[in-house]
Amino acid sequence: MTVVHVLYGTESGNAEMVADDIVAAFRGQGFETVTAELTDVEVSDLAAMEIAVFVSSTYGEGELPETAAPFYDALMAERPDLTGVRFAAFGLGDSIYETFNNAIETLRRALLELGAEQIGTTAKHDAASTTPATELADAWTRDLLTLMPA
Ligand SMILES: Cc1cc2nc3c(=O)[nH]c(=O)nc-3n(C[C@H](O)[C@H](O)[C@H](O)COP(=O)(O)O)c2cc1C
Repeated sequence: MTVVHVLYGTESGNAEMVADDIVAAFRGQGFETVTAELTDVEVSDLAAMEIAVFVSSTYGEGELPETAAPFYDALMAERPDLTGVRFAAFGLGDSIYETFNNAIETLRRALLELGAEQIGTTAKHDAASTTPATELADAWTRDLLTLMPA
């Protein structure tokens, strides 16, 4: 069975809640999952992951959360070959900012550049909307699960 790694970057906890929801949905379908905050992920471990789900909010002027920035910096410095890695992307942001959901786009671009393949669409939660992030996560994960190997 494929192991799904759910990797999140957060400052105030919303991305962690979304990560927990995604994990619950995958587990409900019998997938084995590993959850980690991006602070605890080594870039060198990424190439061995078959499926990685990235969940990240955006801060500052379109930057990754402070806790996730070192991972991104290491990714760009080490530039591992990610051919064979499949990833999904869920961003959290707020459309009052011009740099709406920039961080997940930054991560997504880097992963694609290094050879990883994206599965499904990039979710972009908007904190200014009336939809709770967990509701969007549930719908997005349902779609994602239809694209997963059994
Ligand atoms: C100081 C601050 C800066 C932010 N900057 C951005 C931004 O540049 N772009 C964006 O889309 N959202 C921005 N946001 C919104 C957050 O990404 C959003 O509230 C998100 O749900 C937070 O998720 P988290 O709890 O996982 O960190 C910012 C929020 C704060 C408090």
